[in-house]
This record gives sequence, C-alpha cells and structure tokens, in this order.
Amino acid sequence: MGLGVVILAAGQGTRMRSERPKVLHRLADRPLLQHVIDSARSLGAERIAVVYGHGGAHVREELGAPDLIWVEQAEQLGTGHAVEQALPVIDGVDRVLVLYGDVPLISPATLGSLTEDRESLLSILTARLPDPAGYGRIVRNAANEILRIVEHKDATPAELTIQEINTGIMVVETHALRRWIECLENSNSQGEFYLTDIVATAVSEGVVVGSYSPADHFEILGVNDRVQLAALERHYQRSTADRLMRAGVTLRDPDRFDLRGALDVGQDVEIDVNVLLEGEVLLGDRVRVGANTVIRNSRIGSDVEILENCVIDNAVVGAGSRLGPFARLRPETRLAARVHVGNFVEIKKSTVAEGSKINHLSYIGDTELGSGVNIGAGTITCNYDGANKHKTVIGDDAFIGSNTALVAPVDIGEGATIGAGSVISKDAPAHELTLTRAKQLSLKGWQRPKKSK
Ligand code: UD1
Ligand code: CA
Repeated sequence: MGLGVVILAAGQGTRMRSERPKVLHRLADRPLLQHVIDSARSLGAERIAVVYGHGGAHVREELGAPDLIWVEQAEQLGTGHAVEQALPVIDGVDRVLVLYGDVPLISPATLGSLTEDRESLLSILTARLPDPAGYGRIVRNAANEILRIVEHKDATPAELTIQEINTGIMVVETHALRRWIECLENSNSQGEFYLTDIVATAVSEGVVVGSYSPADHFEILGVNDRVQLAALERHYQRSTADRLMRAGVTLRDPDRFDLRGALDVGQDVEIDVNVLLEGEVLLGDRVRVGANTVIRNSRIGSDVEILENCVIDNAVVGAGSRLGPFARLRPETRLAARVHVGNFVEIKKSTVAEGSKINHLSYIGDTELGSGVNIGAGTITCNYDGANKHKTVIGDDAFIGSNTALVAPVDIGEGATIGAGSVISKDAPAHELTLTRAKQLSLKGWQRPKKSK
C-alpha cells in the first residue's frame, strides 16, 4: 500500500485563549484542520489518521468523515509519542507523512515534491526563516548532509545561529519509523518524546536524510494565537486574489477582496472593493460586482451588473440582469435573464421570469412572477398570515401599481393592471384594471382647524 498520513492535532492551543480547540478555528471559513485534511486527501493518501487530544470530541463531531481514522492521545507527551499512538492504525502503508493540524497553508504541490523522493527512508521539509527563534534547527555536516535536529530549547549558542529550521513535516518509511520511535527517550529540556530525534537515529544507521524546502515560507507557518491566524488569513486571501487576477479577473483592490469558498469565473469579470464571496459562487463572463457586496452560494449569469451594497444568498441570477444598489436576494430566489432588481428590494423563495422589473422598495416572497412584469415601488407580497406561508402568482406583462399589498394566496392574471395603493386579497382577472381603494373626494368649503388660544 501507498502513503499514510498522520496529522498531529492534540496540542491544547492555550495561546488562542479560546474554549474551542485551536484546530477548529477558521481560516477562509474552513477549520484549520480541514485545510490540512483536504491537502492530505489531494495526495491520494491511503489512510489519514488524526491524533487528537484536548477537545477531541468536538473536533470529531465537526470534521468527522468516513475516511478519517481518529486516534486519541490522552496525555501530550511530545510529537514522537503522538505519532506512536497512530502506528497501529497505519499498519500496512509503505510510508507515513506527518502533518500538523495547525499548519493550514501547506500546499499539495509542496507535499508532492517532498513525497516524490523515494530514495531516502526519511525526508524532512525544512525552511530558512528570517527569524528562526523557537523552531528546531537542522544540523548538517561539512558535506551538507543532515546529522540531526536540535530543539531551540536544547540548542547551544552556536546551533542557535543556524537559519535552517525543521517545519515538523516529514515523510518516513513505515518499518523504519516503528524501529526509530521505539528508541525515543525523553531526557531533554522539555521531558518530551521528540519525533525529531528519529533523525539522529536514522543517521546512525547510515541513512542519508533527504530534505525539501517550499518556495513560500507561509506554507509552513503554524497558528499559535489569533494574531498569527489573521496574518495567515491575509496571506491566503492575497494569494487567492493574485491567482484570480492571473486568471483574468479584475480586482480593483486585491487587498480588499475575500473568498471563503470556491469561485468559478468567466472572462473579464470586474470586482470592486470590499466584496466577500462565500461557499460556491459562479460569476459568468463580464459580470461586474459593485463595492461592499456579499455573494454566497449563488450563480450569476453573464453580463450581470451588480451595483453597490447587495447581499445575494443561495440565489440564481440570469444573464444580463441588473441588481442594486442595496438589493437583497434570499435563498431560493431564481431570476431569469434581464431582470432588474433595484434599491431596497428583498426577494425570497421566488422565481422571476425574463425582463421583469422590481425597482424600488419591495418585498417579494413565495412568488411566481411572469415575464415582462412591472412591480411598482413599495409593493409587498403578504405571504405570511402569522401561521403559514402562502403563494402569490403574477402573470406575464402584469403591472402592479405602487404601494400595493398582495395578500397571498392570490393570483394576478396575465396583463392585469393593479391600481396604486390597493390591498388585493382576491384573484385579479387578466387584462383588466383592478383596484381596491376608496374614491377620491374633495370637501367644498372645508377649513383647517385653528389653534385654540
Ligand atoms: C515542533 C518540532 C520542531 C519544529 C516545530 C515546527 C518536535 C520535538 N519539535 O516543535 O522541531 O521546528 O514543531 O512548528 O517535534 N502535538 C501533539 N501531541 C503532543 C505534542 C504536540 O499532537 O504530545 C502536536 C501539536 O498539536 C502541534 C504539533 O504536534 O500541531 C507540534 O507541536 P508543538 O508543541 O507546537 O511543537 P514545537 O515545540 O513547536
Ligand atoms: Ca508549534
């Protein structure tokens, strides 16, 4: 069998100052550990074991998937001890890749390069950091071969000047790993079983230890507190923005763009500042998204123009439509092509056919709206009677006068006209004018009341 992955995630994460386990804190709206699991999956790992400890029940609940094997490390006695706990469940794989649950940005490409080297029984991912403080250092001989790893706390002053650090990520042949882990001792400054000590053991057996370094050192940075989490989030967002721009998207300011999910984009899409895309979003060709807009799990057709300050949630918008400013599309809204939705309009669980316009100050809920319909300003579908929701049906080419209340269930016929200010609680026939307001009258000789002294 091929590759097994062991993800270490038993640490407490005290510096997060949180009730939640560290690995459940989110980067781009995905738990840190989920990022690592997804990278492991993309390598085609045969088995993925997660070593958990503090708050483990929550972690399993939130991330449990049939392909994950959960291993408890009741007491955190060190990284070597953590890997040892997982040995029984990775029985049978040829090689084991060790990852950290709090190092979320490690890329499949880097892991691919690390695991590609099948020459050595042990290969480690190393990096040169501007400030190596706190990390284990890679000690090499004159021939530049790796001799051992020394932890910061155990290092001599000379060793502390070494720039090359241990990222903690390594790939090891399984039989050798078992043998080397058995040799671990905890006679060091932290009284822990260090996984890193297997390096010196391997070297003593004559093994030439391999190494690989990623191009971007953000990949190997861990999250210990919320400041580091925010820094990694920014880095992630900026590299996502750069990738999108290279793929042909215009971002007016790449530092003011956030993607928390997956974006599928057409050509020549333009996105203004402070736009947030969440979940699975599709933007067709030439879509323009105005400033301060949020789009969540939605599909936006080609040539759609979204003006400033819109919120679009679980909706479908047909080609050539125009939304906003200040439009809100709630779940299960489906707009056909060339629909106009203007300011302060809320639409929920409704379909709107081609070319219809709802331009100002309206609520449309549980409605089936035909094509070529014009909804006047301030029109409200009264879909809720306090207990149940009811449906409104509006035929093609209907014209609803301003400030109309459509009391559902109600059916407005094709080509019907509704007079402004009506409360419509019965079906309105096709092609006729229906209105429900009192007749206008003027009182001759009426005088305004005067202020009494
Ligand atoms: C470790 C490495 C160090 C490396 C650094 C990179 C060792 C001895 N040292 O140090 O060389 O430069 O990572 O960040 O391996 N964990 C468990 N169970 C335990 C202990 C740790 O699951 O008993 C997990 C933690 O949750 C964490 C990871 O292992 O995800 C690393 O543990 P941490 O204590 O942060 O190791 P460092 O001391 O930073
Ligand atoms: Ca650490």
